[in-house]
This record gives sequence, structure tokens and C-alpha cells, in this order.
Amino acid sequence: MGRLDNKVAIITGGASGIGESMADLFAQEGAIVIAADINEAALEKVSQKQNINGMKLNVASDEDWAALAKEVNERFGKIDILVNNAGISSEKPYDQINIEDWQKMLSINGFGPFAGMKHVAPYMAAQKKGSIINISSYTALIGQGLNHYSASKGAVRALSKAAATTFGRQGVRVNALFPGIIETPMTQALSTSKDLLDRLVQATPLQRLGLPIDIAQAALFLASDESSYITGSEIVIDGGYSAQ
Ligand SMILES: NC(=O)c1ccc[n+]([C@@H]2O[C@H](COP(=O)([O-])OP(=O)(O)OC[C@H]3O[C@@H](n4cnc5c(N)ncnc54)[C@H](O)[C@@H]3O)[C@@H](O)[C@H]2O)c1
Repeated sequence: MGRLDNKVAIITGGASGIGESMADLFAQEGAIVIAADINEAALEKVSQKQNINGMKLNVASDEDWAALAKEVNERFGKIDILVNNAGISSEKPYDQINIEDWQKMLSINGFGPFAGMKHVAPYMAAQKKGSIINISSYTALIGQGLNHYSASKGAVRALSKAAATTFGRQGVRVNALFPGIIETPMTQALSTSKDLLDRLVQATPLQRLGLPIDIAQAALFLASDESSYITGSEIVIDGGYSAQ
């Protein structure tokens, strides 16, 4: 028996990195997975896998979200799990950030999870049960990286708490995960040199960078009924980096 048998799960950004790892794990544990992503080529690849259905979604679009939630509910009969994982990052320093940079970042990383909850929670409320997991970042917890990425992840943190109180009485749980530096295409695209990564490992109590599966395992727990009394909680998955 799988830990997510008969559950229908939408994972945004499910075609790469952390989201793909979650899609694989959730499918292995018996869920029907909808990997919702803007990258069509990557979606084609993940759709080859058993129990993973790729669907195109721009998380920054209210209309896309309304259509996706309706289609998933019609095709699969319900929605049990939503992971708001899709996101973009940036290392731009604060003195080079303009309004367009800010709006793009906050549209994808901030409005995306908000719109996901807005459109999917009503389907969960209809069955009086659901689990929403929002992916924030350790940069929302400590004073590092003064830029629009940190701001967007702070928004995810605040929205998760507010949504937990809003949707709790309808049986919908909302929790947030705070990854540290995880080895994915996102981090590979950053300018982080080998030297900097070595220093980050040295500065991490558990002495390694994170892997996508480290985040996927925590998401699996929050998605499953094992966490049925947990809402509004925050799990930091950073090898102890932000505890110092
Ligand atoms: N990798 C890290 O070190 C790290 C640390 C903390 C938090 N996070 C967060 O984890 C999440 C996943 O990151 P990752 O490292 O796996 O990145 P990734 O770049 O490997 O994957 C992100 C996915 O999101 C998709 N995406 C981007 N914009 C989208 C949009 N508008 N609509 C739909 N899909 C879109 C991309 O196509 C991609 O498939 C992000 O929210 C990121 O901010 C990552």
C-alpha cells in the first residue's frame, strides 16, 4: 500500500528539480500526479512516466489556474494535494533591481501560489479535505540576499499562515517548506562557483548541500494523512544552515 493511494496531486514546476522529484515520489506512493509547468519540452519528458500527467500552466496567470483546476477536477474527479513549487530565482543585487524585475518575480513566486490556493482550495473544501504545501526558502527566514527573490519567498511564508487559518475550517491544511541550497537546475544556473559551494558546505552543520529528494520526503509527509493534524506549520530543510 502506498502512502498516497487514490490521491490526486497537482505539483507546479513538476517538470524539473525539486518538483520532478516530488512527482516521482508521489507517483511511487500511489498518487495520480499532475505535473503543471510552463516548460512544454520538459513536460513531455515527465509525462512518459507512469501516473504522471503533464499539463501546461503559467502560475502567474489567474485564467490558467482557473482552467487547470477545473480540468483536473473533471478528469480525475477531485483534487487532494496541491504543491505550489514552481518558481524563478535571481541573484541581482538590490541596487540593480527595477520595477519590471520586481513585478515578474512577485507574479510568479508570489501571485502563483496565491492563485493556486484561490482556485484549488474550493475543490478541496467541497470534499472537506485537502493538503496544500507551499515552497518558500531559507532566504525568507534569515537576513541573506537582499533582493526580490527573498521578498517573494517572504510573501509565500505569510500567505501560507494566512491560508491555514482561512481554509482550516473547511478541512484544508496549508503548510510551508523552507529549503536551503538544493542541487537542482535552478542552483546550477546561478553563478555560484565551486569555491563558494565548498564554503557553503563548510558552513552547513550537516556538511552537505540538499538534494531534491530531501524536500520531496517532507512534502510526502505533509501530503499524506500522517500529518492530518498539522496545518500552518513550517519545516526548514537546510542541513541546519539557518539555525546558526
Ligand atoms: N534549488 C534551491 O536551492 C532552492 C532553495 C530554496 C527554495 N527553492 C524553491 O524550490 C522551488 C523549485 O526550485 P528548483 O530548484 O527545483 O528549480 P527548477 O528551476 O529546477 O524548477 C522550477 C520549475 O518551475 C517551472 N516554472 C518557472 N516559472 C513558471 C511559471 N510561470 N509557471 C509554471 N511553471 C514555472 C520551471 O519551468 C521549472 O520546471 C522554487 O520555488 C524555488 O524557489 C529552491
